[in-house]
Amino acid sequence: MKIAVLPGDGIGPEIVRQAVKVIERLKADGLAVETATAPIGGAGYEAAGDPLPDATLELARGADAILLGAVGGPKFDTLDRPLRPEQGLLRIRKALGLFTNLRPAMVYEELADASSLRPELVAGLDIMILRELTGDIYFGSPRGRRTLDNGEREGFDTMKYSESEIRRIAHVGFAIARRRGKKLCSVDKANVLDTSILWREVVNEVAREYPDVELSHMYVDNAAMQLVRAPKQFDVIVTGNIFGDILSDEASMLTGSIGMLPSASLDANNKGLYEPIHGSAPDIAGRDIANPLATILSVAMMLRYTFANEAAATRIESAVRKVLRDGVRTGDIAKPGERTVGTEQMGDAVVAALGAQR
Ligand code: IPM
Ligand code: MG
Repeated sequence: MKIAVLPGDGIGPEIVRQAVKVIERLKADGLAVETATAPIGGAGYEAAGDPLPDATLELARGADAILLGAVGGPKFDTLDRPLRPEQGLLRIRKALGLFTNLRPAMVYEELADASSLRPELVAGLDIMILRELTGDIYFGSPRGRRTLDNGEREGFDTMKYSESEIRRIAHVGFAIARRRGKKLCSVDKANVLDTSILWREVVNEVAREYPDVELSHMYVDNAAMQLVRAPKQFDVIVTGNIFGDILSDEASMLTGSIGMLPSASLDANNKGLYEPIHGSAPDIAGRDIANPLATILSVAMMLRYTFANEAAATRIESAVRKVLRDGVRTGDIAKPGERTVGTEQMGDAVVAALGAQR
């Protein structure tokens, strides 16, 4: 099994280093994986003048799974759009056909009071947000800028979904709901957008094949509100690219910190790219204070979804749980006045907890 490691920018390298320590520890226990590292995002631009250098894409194509840190930083904000770090991420998702994005929002018992909501609203929360990742307004054309006849500048993008794109993500949604709480909520804006009207129609068609799954539909504005009003009403949410981007950031806060949430982006054969859902946090980069747990938990998702190694996935998740139970906290998940550890120490604590399991 080959893992391509793409640390990226900002806190990317330091959090990925902790996840690699975890992989090394599992290797010592017999997990047969090899890793190779390549630059992406701003680091790709600096190394090769391209946020997704050819060599990086080739490495990713040849790998079974990809572990990614984060991309972006103020240094790169003035580059033309095709050269910006985010393009590296969007292009690799598209090039590898990673249309299924899984973003679980789970509340660890130990962190229920780190949530911005009252503990009783979030205790035991376990939602899966399924975000379509290779279509929508992110990739629709035409897009660009033009100057109108009156001399005013205009920017424009195209939201669109084809029937087959909706159908395949809907199937994934129903299949996942079937393995969980059997409830699927499809989120759209069908009261306004034609794209969403088609989305809803196709999801309803697919639903006929899954009579055991309870399907509901919700407008995205209401979904945003319900997520902070009564988040436990949700089991699996399936939605398009832009709505999923926004709702998954919102959902992360229910869990206490955006630093806790892993993600998986899968193609039709479960090849996957795994990354924390948070960004590159340039303001705290290089200071050894970032929370590496989302990245470490992304390795657990990799083992589960791409390598079908549930035992190893569970080992990592149990190790993270143990560390939290022992009160080890980075700043983002600490209560005021609580003692905190740095990025490296958090990584070491998880590795130690893995060691203690044997
Ligand atoms: C995410 C990020 C990306 C996205 C950015 C960095 C392009 O916000 O993975 O959610 O919008 O998809
Ligand atoms: Mg986002």
